[in-house]
Amino acid sequence: MNDKKVALITGSNRGIGLETAKQLGELGITVILTARQLEAAETAAQQLTEKGIDAYGIQLDVTNDEERQAAAAYISSKFGKLDILINNAGVAPKDSLFVSKTAETTKEEFNYIYDTNFFSIVYLTNELLPLIKKSPAGRIVNLSSILGSLTIHAQPESPIAGFRVLSYNSAKAALNMFTIQLAAELQPLGIKVNSAHPGWVQTELGGNEQAPMSITDGAKTSVSLALIGEDGPNGKLIHMGEELPW
Ligand SMILES: NC(=O)c1ccc[n+]([C@@H]2O[C@H](COP(=O)([O-])OP(=O)(O)OC[C@H]3O[C@@H](n4cnc5c(N)ncnc54)[C@H](OP(=O)(O)O)[C@@H]3O)[C@@H](O)[C@H]2O)c1
Repeated sequence: MNDKKVALITGSNRGIGLETAKQLGELGITVILTARQLEAAETAAQQLTEKGIDAYGIQLDVTNDEERQAAAAYISSKFGKLDILINNAGVAPKDSLFVSKTAETTKEEFNYIYDTNFFSIVYLTNELLPLIKKSPAGRIVNLSSILGSLTIHAQPESPIAGFRVLSYNSAKAALNMFTIQLAAELQPLGIKVNSAHPGWVQTELGGNEQAPMSITDGAKTSVSLALIGEDGPNGKLIHMGEELPW
């Protein structure tokens, strides 16, 4: 079994995921980068290898049952355990992040968003849990969002009042419930599970030009939650070290 910590970061060919892999790799952690296209994963891993990072690229469309199973089999045979799982891959509805149309949300939009941002995370985590249980201190980080906070949305003057996108926001709220329940279940095993709000980050999803936060800073919450010690948070929604309300 590998003595070094091993981390898997989904959707890490670009954006916050790639930067998270880079920052974890620079700390000496073995990183497995995943992308929907094998070539994109290998290219991203190669970029990090050239910086001296121990990086591997594998194909993983998180919505694909066989690819989730294959990812688990790969990690099992190559590393025998998984210390850190970062459920980072996510999608936003096309062109509608600023449009309020709650009751008009279509079945297609719900299916697209929930499939990637909620169901796949539950199924992938379940697939990888036997390997995470082999780590002395497993850490699971679910990339959520402040947009999943019911408490903040319920405040009419909140800074996110203009971002009422039912499909995306409710999938992140559902993901937060997954975080809370799984954290409670795994607590006796010393495994910690938290939701991360990365900030409003300059990625494709964040809207490159409007977002105030750099990708470098956007990865920091994921990285810190991946590395928390025994006394760190469990079952919380965190942004840059601060707890946000559910
Ligand atoms: N950016 C923000 O302001 C912000 C704010 C709050 C939360 N978040 C969350 O942070 C996470 C990362 O977002 P980001 O801003 O870095 O987005 P991004 O730049 O658009 O990158 C998203 C990544 O997810 C991958 N992905 C999408 N669907 C996938 C699937 N079915 N299987 C595997 N990979 C898939 C994409 O791969 P392809 O290249 O193949 O499309 C890409 O690598 C998301 O969960 C997002 O909801 C972001």
